[in-house]
Amino acid sequence: MSVFDQFSLEGKTAIVTGATGVLGGAMAHGLAAAGAKVAILGRRAEKAQEVVDAIQATGGIALATPADVLSTDSLNIARDAVIAEWGRIDILINAAGGNMPGATILNDVTFFNMKEEDYDGVVKLNLHGSLLPTQVFGEVMVEQGSGSIINISSMAAARSLTRVLGYSNAKAAIDSFTRWMAMELAQKYGAGLRVNAIAPGFFVGEQNRAFLLNPDGTHTTRGQTIIDHTPMGRFGEPDELVGTAIWLASDASKFVTGVIVPVDGGFSVFSGV
Ligand SMILES: NC(=O)c1ccc[n+]([C@@H]2O[C@H](COP(=O)([O-])OP(=O)(O)OC[C@H]3O[C@@H](n4cnc5c(N)ncnc54)[C@H](O)[C@@H]3O)[C@@H](O)[C@H]2O)c1
Repeated sequence: MSVFDQFSLEGKTAIVTGATGVLGGAMAHGLAAAGAKVAILGRRAEKAQEVVDAIQATGGIALATPADVLSTDSLNIARDAVIAEWGRIDILINAAGGNMPGATILNDVTFFNMKEEDYDGVVKLNLHGSLLPTQVFGEVMVEQGSGSIINISSMAAARSLTRVLGYSNAKAAIDSFTRWMAMELAQKYGAGLRVNAIAPGFFVGEQNRAFLLNPDGTHTTRGQTIIDHTPMGRFGEPDELVGTAIWLASDASKFVTGVIVPVDGGFSVFSGV
């Protein structure tokens, strides 16, 4: 037996929410390449099927399970589809999420006139959008006595990033949720149940592209400020999350729970001086 066998996801099944997006998609491909059967969960059925087709084209096994992470009913349908097809759920990556313009303090929006419903919207998507899938899919893991849940945090959770108020508050809550769930699941339901998070640095995704890059591909002022505060001097590539995701999903991390792993080119440790 090789030391690398503990990283294999052969025989495991995974659900990746937001797998229709940039980071969730990269991690879904990575889990499939490591041997997992992967359910692609996103709101848009056609987009989910495109990701499935791309994974299958590389020899992986995948299933489209369109659902809204804010609708327990649709998550239940997705869970039933995965159980009918594969019989178990070993890995959940909660990658649906992101910033939303209304709760961003920019242009005419100040802290004082920001609408409560806009704040609620971004908190709902990022916090409840991880909590509800954890309830629906985590319950299956509890019945099995094993499972690994991976939440997606952000640099905005632990440090203050200008503008993104609602998003920062929601991601800080994700860190707290990760630690709390890690304790709850291991204590009450057994050591086979683990909850961790990845805190990505700055990666160019659909929702933040215009914040980071000008139409000609050069950095915006904010994009350049981020690069200047990233010791490695560049944005991340979505594939660079895959190794950490496989480690946290696999038996290689079986005594690891409640941690938040930065994958950030050093952003979180740099004081700026
Ligand atoms: N891109 C970055 O630099 C970065 C950095 C730190 C954290 N993150 C986090 O990583 C995660 C993925 O981000 P991304 O950059 O890949 O964004 P993305 O916009 O490319 O992907 C997000 C995906 O989630 C889906 N989604 C949104 N709402 C949904 C809902 N209600 N139900 C189901 N699916 C829904 C979207 O359709 C999209 O496919 C998010 O939680 C984001 O906050 C991103």
